[in-house]
Amino acid sequence: MVTLKDIALKAGVSKSTVSRIFNNKGNVNPILKRKVKKVAKELGYYPNILAASLKRKRTYTIGVIISNILNPFFTSVVRGIEDIAIKNNFNIILCNADEDPKKEGIYIDVLRSKKVDGMIIATTGENKDHFSALEREGIPVVLVDRKVEGSNFDTIITNNKKGAFDAISHFIETGYRRIGFITGPLNITTSFERLEGYKLALRKYEIPFDESIVKIGEFKEDSGYKNMKELLKIKNPPNAIFAGNYLIALGVYEAIKECGLKIPEDIAVITFDDFPWFKHLSPPLTAVSQPTYKLGAYSMRRLIKLIEGKKPYSEKRKRVILKNSLIIRESCGCKGNKS
Ligand code: RIB
Repeated sequence: MVTLKDIALKAGVSKSTVSRIFNNKGNVNPILKRKVKKVAKELGYYPNILAASLKRKRTYTIGVIISNILNPFFTSVVRGIEDIAIKNNFNIILCNADEDPKKEGIYIDVLRSKKVDGMIIATTGENKDHFSALEREGIPVVLVDRKVEGSNFDTIITNNKKGAFDAISHFIETGYRRIGFITGPLNITTSFERLEGYKLALRKYEIPFDESIVKIGEFKEDSGYKNMKELLKIKNPPNAIFAGNYLIALGVYEAIKECGLKIPEDIAVITFDDFPWFKHLSPPLTAVSQPTYKLGAYSMRRLIKLIEGKKPYSEKRKRVILKNSLIIRESCGCKGNKS
């Protein structure tokens, strides 16, 4: 088996220099670092991460649990996490909970057993017992995108309430009064906060809240489709729809078109979550854009501070609320093309 001594001899450096390089310790000249790593690769040496972690009491691995790996919203968040992680010599273990609290709980236990240095979680909103255990054990955790009410974890989220308020205000200022809303699950804080923003905008413009045009759905295309079909059947259907996320919006588009209606001429649409390809939809979709990459990058930077003990866990939790922005396209009817 190739040892640090073998590498040191071949590279012409001391064993302690080789050890510092593979333990990310001290400032080693980058050229020398590259030379030593090249020699190590030629000799077929790969550091024993397990032995090193036992010695350092750190694995340089963090667990990331997101709720839907197929949703580009989360892939962008993970990209932000991974870019900061790799720059700081951390690896990530990515877990997909599929919006399933049971699966999320299993993954939290798996990551604990793997002794990750910390976790970043976009939670399903359940598993309070798992989160209390993480807090009791003092395992560094940062919540991204979604909160766990009553927890002391640091949280990096966006201003969902203001984002929804701005979208509904835009509808009203464009002339719409009967604005329906198909939300995601209300146990997820982003959905609950968007509903608060929806109600706040109606109150500001003195439009009564009508629960018959508010449907509590799931962050899924099928949920948007089914709920939109139901809204089109009621006596006085809405002439504008706010979709709780883009998957819901895709279902809304399909249901409206299947009924022979036009967007925005018959029904205007705005969604939460924005992606560049929305400009290619017919009509291009107006959306509340969230800074997904920043959500991830800020979360990882915060987690590193917690792991390095730069914030005693007892300190008051840190909550960062990033701004969203309304990206106006044709689907909201403000560009003079509504009936
Ligand atoms: O698309 C997934 C949704 O759930 C996003 O709006 C995000 O905010 C998350 O809460």
